[in-house]
Amino acid sequence: MNIDSGKSLIFPKIDKLPSFKPKLRLGVLASGKGSNFEAIVKSTLDKKLDANIQCLIVNKKNCGAIEKAKHYKIPFHYLDHSSFKYREDLDNEIIRLLQIYDVEGIVMAGWMRIVSSVLINKYPERIINIHPSLLPSFKGKDALTQALDHGVTITGCTVHIVKEEVDAGPILIQSAIPIHKKDNENSLLKKIQEEEHKILSTGIALAAIKWRNIAKDNK
Ligand code: GRF
Repeated sequence: MNIDSGKSLIFPKIDKLPSFKPKLRLGVLASGKGSNFEAIVKSTLDKKLDANIQCLIVNKKNCGAIEKAKHYKIPFHYLDHSSFKYREDLDNEIIRLLQIYDVEGIVMAGWMRIVSSVLINKYPERIINIHPSLLPSFKGKDALTQALDHGVTITGCTVHIVKEEVDAGPILIQSAIPIHKKDNENSLLKKIQEEEHKILSTGIALAAIKWRNIAKDNK
């Protein structure tokens, strides 16, 4: 295995994702252009990820994710985070919506708000996030700048379970790519996002296997 040729190195590599009966019921949180949201939707439509996207919640009024939700006819809700006094109030509203849609797992697909213990404890081990670095390196908002500034020669992306400490939960899947001398933030973002779109569904499925086993054990 090598990534010399400019290709990525993804681990774990899973060729076929498991089926889930009944289908997974996912809620997605997004703040940006929604390319990861779209990647999840496409992978359900292509029958790779055995899931229904029950709803999208966004906190940016004109974000691209809304257009994608309209295009794929997925219910969406805009929550203006500035209208909530405390982080916990926003999280309680998110929980209220997710319960209406009977969501069993949450995907933070470019959700640029820190969530509180209120949401995390309501959905323990059931919230996953995608981050544009090989965690635990380069946590936080400016992961690509950090990677370029440090001069690392390899970076990538990570899908992980969300814990209270930001970008610190258990890792589900990662993809590594080389950084070339000519790379800048734009070229790197493009390459990392391509990898994000490849690994996100697998990360969801890996987390969901655990959710379903926990649910079975509790019966
Ligand atoms: C992704 O690069 C993700 O890693 C980061 O935010 C970006 C969202 O992009 N947390 P998009 O909105 O999914 O296109």
